[in-house]
Amino acid sequence: MTKVLVTGGQGFLGSHIVTKLLDEGKKVRVLARPSKESNSDLAKGVEIEYGDIRDSKAVEDAVNGVDIIIHVVSNFRKGGSDKKEAYDINVGGTLNVLAAAQKYNVKQIIHCSTIGVHGTVLEIPATETTAFNPTDLYQETKLIAEKKVWDFYKKTGLPVTVIRPISLFGPGDKRMLKLFSMIQKERFFIVGDGNVYFHPAYIDDVVQGFILCLNNEKAFGEVFIIGGDEYTTLNRLCELIAQELGVKPPRMRVPLKPVLALATLIETICEPFNISPPLHRRRVSFFQNNRAFSIDKARKILDYEPHFSLDEIIRKTIQEYRKEGWL
Ligand SMILES: NC(=O)c1ccc[n+]([C@@H]2O[C@H](COP(=O)([O-])OP(=O)(O)OC[C@H]3O[C@@H](n4cnc5c(N)ncnc54)[C@H](OP(=O)(O)O)[C@@H]3O)[C@@H](O)[C@H]2O)c1
Repeated sequence: MTKVLVTGGQGFLGSHIVTKLLDEGKKVRVLARPSKESNSDLAKGVEIEYGDIRDSKAVEDAVNGVDIIIHVVSNFRKGGSDKKEAYDINVGGTLNVLAAAQKYNVKQIIHCSTIGVHGTVLEIPATETTAFNPTDLYQETKLIAEKKVWDFYKKTGLPVTVIRPISLFGPGDKRMLKLFSMIQKERFFIVGDGNVYFHPAYIDDVVQGFILCLNNEKAFGEVFIIGGDEYTTLNRLCELIAQELGVKPPRMRVPLKPVLALATLIETICEPFNISPPLHRRRVSFFQNNRAFSIDKARKILDYEPHFSLDEIIRKTIQEYRKEGWL
C-alpha cells in the first residue's frame, strides 16, 4: 500500500489532504511541530512524526519508509517580514525534504508552491508559464523553493510535481473570516479602486488536484495551477459576499498609496524589535495584486475539474463560519 508523508499535515490544506488520502485507502504519515495540539481526527489513522522542517534529522526520520512526499509546510500564516524565518522554513525546509527524498529514494515528491509566485499577474488569465512576479517575502521565498525543486529534478531525475494552489477557502480556515465579518457588520472598506482580480478556490477542489497527481506519470516533471475556474474583481467579490449575507455591499474606499506607506513604516519599526507587524505590505497586497488564473493545463493533463462555482464557494464559506459560530 502506498505510504504518503504530508509535511504540515495538521495545517489547513495539509489536514484536508490527509483526510482524503485516508479515504483513498493510503497509509499516511504527518510531519508536524510538537507545539501543535494533536488533532484527534489525524490521530486515528495517521502516524505522526513530530519535528520541525528546519531540522534535517527530523525530516529524514519522517521521510524514511514512505513512498511519496506531499510537501505542504510553509510559513504561510506568518509570511510578514521575518526574513530568516521565511528563508529557513520555505527554502531550507524544502531543501531538507529534497535531500531526504534522495537519500531514501522516494517515488514521487509533490511540492506545494503557490500562485503567489506570479505575484500580481502580468497577463490575464495567468498560466503556468506566465512570468514570475513575486511581490513580498513569502512569495519570493516560495519561488526560490520552487526553483530549488526544479534544480533537484534536473540533477536527480526523481519524479517531482509542483502544484500552485489558488487562494483557498473552506472549513477550518479563518484567513478570510475578517473580510466576511467586516462586510456583515457593514464596516468593510476597500483599499484602492477594488478593480483588481481575486480568484478563490474551494479546498476540496484543490485537494482533488493533489490526489490526481499521486502516482500519476503524466504529472512527473510538471507544474499545475489548481483551483476554481472563476475569478472576479474585489468589488464584485464583496458584493456577492454582502448579497449572500443579506447586507449592503461595501461602498467606502481608501486610497492605496497611504495605506501601503503606513504598512511599510510599521514593518520597519517592528523589525528591529522582532515584533510581528499588525499591518504589513503582504496584507495590503490583498487589495493590490491582480490574481486571475487559467486551470486549463490541469484540465487537459490531469482531467481535473473543479466542482465549486464562485457563488458556491462564498455560500459554503458562510455556512461553515456560521456553523462554527464565527459569523
Ligand atoms: N491557504 C491558501 O490560500 C494558499 C494558497 C496558495 C498556496 N498555499 C500553500 O499551501 C500550503 C499550506 O497552506 P495552509 O493554508 O494550509 O497554511 P497552514 O494552515 O499555516 O499550514 C502550514 C503548516 O505548516 C506547518 N509549519 C509551519 N512552519 C513549520 C515548521 N518550521 N516545521 C514544521 N511545520 C511547520 C504549520 O504548523 P504550525 O501550526 O506548527 O505552524 C502548518 O501545519 C503552504 O505551502 C502555502 O504556501 C496556500
